Amino acid sequence: MLIASGPSSQELGKKTAELMKAKTIAVASKRFPDGESYIRFDDELVGEEVIIIQTASPPQDTNMFQLFLMADTAKDMGAERVIAVIPYLAYARQDKRFLHGEAFSVLTVAKLLERVGVDQLLTVNARQKVLDEFPFPAKTVSAIPLLAQYCKNKGIEEAFSLAPDEGAKDYAMEGAKILGGGYGWRHKERDRHTGAISFRDEEYDVKGKDAVIFDDIISTGGTTADSAKMLKAQGARRVFCACVHPLLIGDAEKKIMNNGAEEIVGTDCVPSPLSKVSVAPLIAKTLLGR
Ligand code: R5P
Repeated sequence: MLIASGPSSQELGKKTAELMKAKTIAVASKRFPDGESYIRFDDELVGEEVIIIQTASPPQDTNMFQLFLMADTAKDMGAERVIAVIPYLAYARQDKRFLHGEAFSVLTVAKLLERVGVDQLLTVNARQKVLDEFPFPAKTVSAIPLLAQYCKNKGIEEAFSLAPDEGAKDYAMEGAKILGGGYGWRHKERDRHTGAISFRDEEYDVKGKDAVIFDDIISTGGTTADSAKMLKAQGARRVFCACVHPLLIGDAEKKIMNNGAEEIVGTDCVPSPLSKVSVAPLIAKTLLGR
């Protein structure tokens, strides 16, 4: 088994390989002045199982294309199996055809991965239901317990765990298992044409208590900012925001902090200054436990 850390997950790949005590292979990469990517393996791959760790956070298309180049080249060089670890699986939110004629984007990604020789996929906090439609084994694991543990280690205990929508309900449940303090979720609706979101809330058990918002993604920050504001309005003492994939587009961080949050914590599925929790132990354990 050889671990290849792609350009977008150098640190995470290194940490994972160390935890697995696995052999690593060097991946040389560069971008040409026009933006095209270059990839080169420096080792022999004949007959090997190659695990490529490459997240597909922004710039999604570039990172995904570099993964295509690595997988295809590994197979061309004689690798027997290629396992793609894509901690942030770009396009996973378009996991069905919501409107007539729309691209079913994540399935297009799956077909391309299969075409370049990927035999298996491991990702973090995507929806297993759509992964089951992939033309090869694809699995997701959850980093929410790691985020909840980070909060607990900071002394945030008996906090209420909130999911900003029903789809994230399991995240709040996972958080509550570690933090205690109960859990709940908001009712969110999104206009599929304009993208505008609206919420319906109940009274949550947060008066005078700490609260943690758990979500898979913070993109523009609108969902988390609104949730933080709602929790404060309902009397929460302190509000923490924990997400697996901190995309933090534009002024997302500022927006959330301005709405009463104490701290935002993310994982290194998406490298950012707020990615204080590493998913390396989770990935290593999952790969070793196959
Ligand atoms: C949506 O279902 C996701 O779980 C996130 O809540 C969403 O992607 C967050 O987006 P934004 O930060 O732009 O509100």
